[in-house]
Amino acid sequence: MKKTILVTGGTGFIGSHTTVELQAAGYDVVIVDNLSNSNADVVDGIEQISGIRPAFYKVDCCDLPALEDVFKKHPDICGIIHFAASKAVGESVEQPLKYYENNLVSLINLLKIMPVYGVKGIIFSSSCTVYGQPDPEHLPVTEEAPIKKAESPYGNTKQINEEIVQDYVKSGAPISAILLRYFNPIGSHPSGIIGELPNGVPANLIPYITQTAIGIREQLSVFGDDYDTPDGSCIRDFIYVLDLAKAHVAAMARIVEGKNTEPVEIYNVGTGNGVSVFELLNTFEKCTGVKVNYKVAPRRAGDIEKVWGNVDKANNVLGWKAVHTLEEALSSAWNWQKKLRERGIM
Ligand code: WQD
Repeated sequence: MKKTILVTGGTGFIGSHTTVELQAAGYDVVIVDNLSNSNADVVDGIEQISGIRPAFYKVDCCDLPALEDVFKKHPDICGIIHFAASKAVGESVEQPLKYYENNLVSLINLLKIMPVYGVKGIIFSSSCTVYGQPDPEHLPVTEEAPIKKAESPYGNTKQINEEIVQDYVKSGAPISAILLRYFNPIGSHPSGIIGELPNGVPANLIPYITQTAIGIREQLSVFGDDYDTPDGSCIRDFIYVLDLAKAHVAAMARIVEGKNTEPVEIYNVGTGNGVSVFELLNTFEKCTGVKVNYKVAPRRAGDIEKVWGNVDKANNVLGWKAVHTLEEALSSAWNWQKKLRERGIM
């Protein structure tokens, strides 16, 4: 009997890639997504890749009755991977209430429902932004690093979400949770059938680069070259989305198979390597042969100067490790952008 996993935000960038990997690992998947930052045709793409069409419901996780209906229809759901959230650092500075309402209420609704329907575990999509700007001596950052004051409402919602899960489990809730603190997910499925496709002007670096490279955007703005880093641009830990998706499968299996040793476990999910914006830009141009028109612009509010992960715990305890190179991730992003052009999508 196949186990069924609910993937919230499953037509989104990371959710769709994780759905494909869950199916490959033998799970049935049910997707809920409000399509605020993705399209329903991603479900067709998932089916094209895996040969299995996941159940899909256009549901906002903040709508408790609608969300509960999905569990009524699928009483075999034994685990949840919760991606559905607003996730642009810059936008969260401009629209804090949207971020607090969407990101907190959606999680609370899921936690309320879990015991009612006997759902054992939840994998929560957290983020390295919970660390704020780690002190230099705490880089690469480990899971034990102090949680510093968030530098954006987005980062704060992730911190509060982690506390909500911890407090709920501490209160005796009959569930287990794994918090995955991702760094910067990039790239697209090698098939070119699914990928990162935010609605409107991209907030994130990679889609802005590929849209500039193909001529949709006039020029990339590099937000600041006066940071305290070797080349002045920000440093991040860019992880290929395929590796990230596989980390979710490993985490879900750990809970479903009852291998978790704590009711709440936390893992950094990154490559362990810090790469600057300029280094990434140069790597993109080298591995695609495409020059990117850019200018240096003022810093963006809410940006962290430099953060990359110590991923020993995920490697040694979760049994997961990122295996793809930055070049593979960036080549896949460019391949995806070209496929979108071939299909007349953008
Ligand atoms: C990366 C760097 C920008 C756009 C992301 C997600 C967040 C979380 C963490 C998962 C920064 C610079 C960007 C541009 C630029 N992921 N940049 N020009 O802010 O690190 O956060 O990863 O939970 O959801 O948003 O990613 O890609 O926006 O920025 O110079 O047009 O690229 O200043 O230094 P960020 P990002």
